Amino acid sequence: MKRMAVIIISVVFVSLAMGVSPSPALADADTVETGRLLAILLDSGRVTIAGVQALINDPEKGDKGFTPDVFEEGVIAKFKDRSGVDLTKLKTEKVPAQAKQLLPMLVEAGKKVVATYQPILNKQGLAYKNFIPATWGTQAAAIFTARTGTYLKQTTLDEVLRNPKNKADEFEAAVMKKFADPAYPRQGEKIVNEMVDGGKTTRVMLPLFHVKGCLPCHGEPKGERDISGYIREGGKLGELAGAISVKLSQR
Ligand code: HEC
Repeated sequence: MKRMAVIIISVVFVSLAMGVSPSPALADADTVETGRLLAILLDSGRVTIAGVQALINDPEKGDKGFTPDVFEEGVIAKFKDRSGVDLTKLKTEKVPAQAKQLLPMLVEAGKKVVATYQPILNKQGLAYKNFIPATWGTQAAAIFTARTGTYLKQTTLDEVLRNPKNKADEFEAAVMKKFADPAYPRQGEKIVNEMVDGGKTTRVMLPLFHVKGCLPCHGEPKGERDISGYIREGGKLGELAGAISVKLSQR
């Protein structure tokens, strides 16, 4: 027992002395949890948009009533289902202080996107409005990053990349290879996290797998255009669609 402790202490000491981060396992738990919650919140927003897609695409209807407040209610409910965290009672919820500060800012960024799109959403006679989970997600993440300095993005592997702004960096590409392995759990919001920059930054990634609703655009027939005008990638149910990637400075 004693000898084990000595070995562990020496390993930590040697790592510190060499100036390398001791091990990914030692990433600060609060920072990792903040990253995980932000990723789930961004995806909850995507799912909220997916849920109103038929309404949004209805060319007969003018005013859709999908206001920023309606969006907010939806995303709060989805996020609570998935994370157990009630954003309406965030002050008393057991989440890290950094998450208490950042989660509401992501909701605000998401509402801003919905607000900007109102004239297009409420236009009668137009079916496809280029307002889909991915366009909302790309824009909400960009506003959030600009306002908070916290890197947040949705990304995917180069072979199926649509928007070049979502291109993966080396770390993201390597983690997504792991996610793509059929042995990687499809359930349970299982993230990957790692410390980089000598321990100054924590990276967190949440995988996104194809569900039925994704396939009209990302599925078969491969090579044919979808409603958004992009080429279908031939994705299949349960396959990796991409990931949400967060970088946080270690507190
Ligand atoms: C209506 C068609 C449509 C549907 C349905 C759809 N997507 Fe997409 N997806 C797109 C478009 C268009 C983009 C590029 C958006 C942009 O400009 O940022 C995109 C981008 C993405 C990206 C970002 C990487 C990239 O290629 O730019 C991911 C990840 C993604 N989609 C996953 C999904 C998942 C998972 C689902 C189902 C839950 C889904 N999509 C459903 C059309 C769709």
